[in-house]
Amino acid sequence: MSEKTNRFKIARSFGSATTSYDVSARLQRYCGKHLMPWLPSSHDITALDLGAGTGFFTELLSSRYRQVIGLDVSKKMLHFAKDNRHKRIHWLEADAYKIPLQDNSIDFVYSNLMIQWCDPLDQVLNEIIRVLKPGGLFAFSTLVDGTLFELKSAWAQVDNDQHVIDFQVESEIIALFDGADRKLLHAKQQDIVLAYENVLHLAHELKNLGANHLPKKQGKGLAGKDKWQQMTQKYQEFLQSNGTYPATYKVLSGLVVKSKD
Ligand SMILES: C[S@@+](CC[C@H](N)C(=O)[O-])C[C@H]1O[C@@H](n2cnc3c(N)ncnc32)[C@H](O)[C@@H]1O
Repeated sequence: MSEKTNRFKIARSFGSATTSYDVSARLQRYCGKHLMPWLPSSHDITALDLGAGTGFFTELLSSRYRQVIGLDVSKKMLHFAKDNRHKRIHWLEADAYKIPLQDNSIDFVYSNLMIQWCDPLDQVLNEIIRVLKPGGLFAFSTLVDGTLFELKSAWAQVDNDQHVIDFQVESEIIALFDGADRKLLHAKQQDIVLAYENVLHLAHELKNLGANHLPKKQGKGLAGKDKWQQMTQKYQEFLQSNGTYPATYKVLSGLVVKSKD
């Protein structure tokens, strides 16, 4: 599948989840807030929220900074954001691979749980560095390999198809921030384990988040009912004593600076 077709499908997958997104976004909220200590203190700056989604954090940025731009590839996400967020935010429907902004024009790029959808990631990082001013900052959170290992392991015992997206390895992502034009100032990895009432609850949350697009999936549509039941049976091995089902999200967050010369 071409990279462009893949991104179109990602946009459609997120777009169809727009109305349910905010109620299912507990992981997004947690990770986005986690980036707050790295926000620049100066008010007089231009900030870009890359992969802004419904604009929850874009609005928060707009309460701090003089000019704020929210960019997303999904038309529906942007419609929701335009209707529900502060009117002074500028919205851009665009692809992170081709940011329609000038070189050296942005002081701060914020990106919460977006770059895990970007493959190849280095091209997006080059775009971010291009639009940042020298000395500008990029704060991000993303998911790394090991995320949803419970679900992956349960499915792996049923068939060989792809049911969970492949997340990049942490060390490979970190290596991308080590260049002449960029430096990783801080990085933090943490495991966030969310509890679900049952496996269906987890599947609904992933769907409501739009996070169910799988580029390498062979079988079409839903997995068969039998396979689904076999998988939920295998997931039982993770059942907690309090009756909930855990799902682990391995979150990498970081702060990057663009070199001054
Ligand atoms: C998990 S959501 C996070 C949204 C928001 N940052 C938040 O914290 O609520 C990821 C967002 O990234 C957007 N996205 C995915 N790939 C993108 C790309 N290549 N360019 C721009 N946006 C993209 C999706 O449309 C979706 O709105």
